[in-house]
Parts: sequence; structure tokens; C-alpha cells
Amino acid sequence: MKKFLTLCLSICLMFSLAACGGNSSESETSETPETSETPTETTSELVFGTSADYPPFEFIYLDEEGNQQYAGIDVFLAEQIAADMGKELRVVNMNFDSLMAALQKGEVDIVIAAMEETEERATAADFSDPYYTDLPAMILVKAENVDQYTSLESFSGKSVGAQTGTTKAAIVTDEMPGANLVALTTVSDLVNELVYDKCDAIVLDGAVAMEYANANADLELSTVELGEALPFRVAVQKGDPSGLLEQINASIATALENGQIDEWVQQANDLSAQAIEE
Ligand code: ARG
Repeated sequence: MKKFLTLCLSICLMFSLAACGGNSSESETSETPETSETPTETTSELVFGTSADYPPFEFIYLDEEGNQQYAGIDVFLAEQIAADMGKELRVVNMNFDSLMAALQKGEVDIVIAAMEETEERATAADFSDPYYTDLPAMILVKAENVDQYTSLESFSGKSVGAQTGTTKAAIVTDEMPGANLVALTTVSDLVNELVYDKCDAIVLDGAVAMEYANANADLELSTVELGEALPFRVAVQKGDPSGLLEQINASIATALENGQIDEWVQQANDLSAQAIEE
């Protein structure tokens, strides 16, 4: 129990950093004025929108000096893309369900957030080639209740959480008959709801569900399986007005070819485990 509480506290700390103060955006570099102009291809900065509540894809950890750092597979990819473009990367962290609007308004140049291309999103943005295909989505439940769930139907009448605006929320409404969707904007809040029995289960992308299950002895992955995962892609503004996609796809191709992505996965897993145990 003590270990669990410590884990819970550190997870809360880790993610509350991402969501603190109600101000959903913060930047990694300070030299850029808050009121940045609409990015164009001539700017020396690449503005990267993400939702850093999603280890191992994007999360915040405290480095040795106690400074907040962004890390994760998507963050490493963004850093590589910026380096390949010869630009400085600026991270803008926000709730997942604000990312598409921020991209449409030109507040960010790219979005990388374990994001799948859906029909609806494809009307609002353009997507790169795939850079990663996760395990299928998984259902996280309290360890003590895991035997109760044997099929998708066994979630009927239960409160099932998912992050607002994600494909996981669509799974709850479309594939889990009779389940009541609890949609919250941050994954850390969802995990709290589950830990404190305010909901019965949560649906997350596979690797993310595994992170939380491994970090928390009270939580377990349900054996009930969900369908295939769609690959994650980088989103840019519709029509790619700044002409970024070609370079992004080239960076992805190289990272896939030279095994760089696998190294990022390893690095992200090590760091997120460390961040959770701090
Ligand atoms: N893969 C899911 C989607 O595309 C969820 C992504 C959530 N990402 C995040 N950084 N919280 O809808």
C-alpha cells in the first residue's frame, strides 16, 4: 500500500506538472516571446504541440536539477525532425482535445501525440507516413476486479473512462455495449478515478496502459481484447501550407531504417519508469 501511494503520488506529480495552473500551454525554451507570430516555413523555430500525459510517448520528468523536461518517443521524433530541418524545437503542451484546433489556428506547426489518423481528423489536418504502431488498445481495471470482466459485454452498466477526443473514447461508445463513457481531458485524472473507484475501467493505447499497470500494483490489464491499433502519425496544417511534410516523412523513413525509433522506445521506457519511481 505504501509503495502504491508513493507511486500514485509521483505519477500525480509527474502529470500535474503537465496540467498545472489551468494554463495548458508552456514552452520549453524561454527566449521566444509568448505572442509568437503565425509560423511560416522561414521561421527558425518548429513549434511542436503535444499532450504530455502519455508515457512512453510523451511525458514530463524531473531531471537531476529538478527541472521539468519533456521526453518520450514522440518528443525524440520531434527533436529529430527539428534537427533535420535545422530549426529550434519549441514544445507546447496542452490537453489532447485542444491539439487539432491549435494546429488549425497555426499556434503549432506540428502535432505529435500518439495520434491516429481518423476520417474526421483527416478533414482538419494532413498526416505524415506512420512512424509507430502500438499494441492494440487495452482496458485497465482494478486488480481485485479483473476476473469480473470476461467479454466486452461484461462492461455493460459500468463506468468506463477514456481521454476526451481520443479514439479510445470512441471504442467505449462504439464497441462496449451498455458501458457508460467517462470522458476526462487528462489521463492522469482518469487513472485517479480508477484508483479511487470512481470509474470501473479505462481504455488506453496498449503501451500506455502497460506503463500504468506496471507502475501500480492495484491496477491490472483486463484480458478482454480490443481490435487492431492504427499507426501513429505526425499531423500538420491542412494542405501543408508551410511545406513540412516532405521533410517529416524523410525524417521518419530514416529513423525507421536505421533503428533509431527502437532506441527512442528503449530510452523512453527507461525514463518513464524512472520518472514514475521518483
Ligand atoms: N491514440 C489515441 C488517439 O489518436 C489517443 C492519443 C492520446 N494522446 C495523448 N498524448 N494523450 O486518439
